[in-house]
Amino acid sequence: MEKVVSGIRPTGNLHLGNYFGAVKSFVAMQSQYQSMFFIADWHSLTTHPKPENIQNSARTILAEYLACGIDPQKAPIYVQSDVKETLELYLYLNMNTYLGELERVTTFKEKARKQPDNVNAGLLTYPTLMAADVLQHRAHKVPVGKDQEQNMEMMRKCARRFNNIYGIEFFPEPQNFYFNATALKVPGLDGSGKMGKSEGNCIYLRDDDKTIRKKVMKAVTDNGPQEPNSKRPEVIENLFTFLKIASTPDTYQYFDEKWNDCTLRYGDLKKQIAEDLVNIVAPIREKIEEYSANTALLDKVAKEGADYARQSASETLNEVRKIIGFRIY
Ligand code: TRP
Repeated sequence: MEKVVSGIRPTGNLHLGNYFGAVKSFVAMQSQYQSMFFIADWHSLTTHPKPENIQNSARTILAEYLACGIDPQKAPIYVQSDVKETLELYLYLNMNTYLGELERVTTFKEKARKQPDNVNAGLLTYPTLMAADVLQHRAHKVPVGKDQEQNMEMMRKCARRFNNIYGIEFFPEPQNFYFNATALKVPGLDGSGKMGKSEGNCIYLRDDDKTIRKKVMKAVTDNGPQEPNSKRPEVIENLFTFLKIASTPDTYQYFDEKWNDCTLRYGDLKKQIAEDLVNIVAPIREKIEEYSANTALLDKVAKEGADYARQSASETLNEVRKIIGFRIY
């Protein structure tokens, strides 16, 4: 079975955009591939040298992913910093990666501009650490967003170059696995095209029913349909996208007809969306709360994930040491 590995950036809580995007794809993948997911806490040191409460933020992420349906029996989930084998591969990969190509990575240039006082070597070698994350498991596929394209190219370059230098077909070249292609794009509630943390227009999986209703009722609209069968402006189309995501086809059709004969009342539409979203989020939120209260379980999941990942990585690293010519005891 093909191997899938992906890293989760530890930034804030999951919102509906994440849920219908990456997270649902992860859940689908865990049955189709030999999957592994990890929390990329080392990577966050490149921008945040003194993270607060690392353990708790890992637990928060674990609780949310488990609540969404990641099954650690199928897809072990671990914390990057628990698997020190990664660092050995990171070192070898760094030896074969050139300053020039690392400096050309757009995300490096952007971050260097954003934090001119902290253009550290870790930031520069972000792509080689990411390559080590994946290559240590000799994975074939990496579910990522479009923004990771260049990092993925560097990863393949690392694999190819290692194979070329040592004259052996050892690392597969991991392929991007775009969930964006199939995933539902959740719009923002502010009329913008996309739900995102930085846009500040999110419904979080931890939001309570009241908060969800309030956020939906505040969604941006216009004066209502003016002519029968007219094209919907973007802000209204966004609301219909929510219906498509959260409601039944019948409900969608009902409101679509109301739009077309100009009898649609946005208040009714929003109430419908709010209730349907509450029905989706509430059971997940309850599970998040349950998992969050069970730190012993979360720590056990993380430990078992780390054991599994360490085993997988050390098999690779033993081979790598042999290939380069280092001793293995
Ligand atoms: N760079 C990824 C992001 O910002 C997170 C990440 C770290 C990752 N290591 C990875 C993703 C390895 C895929 C594979 O989202």
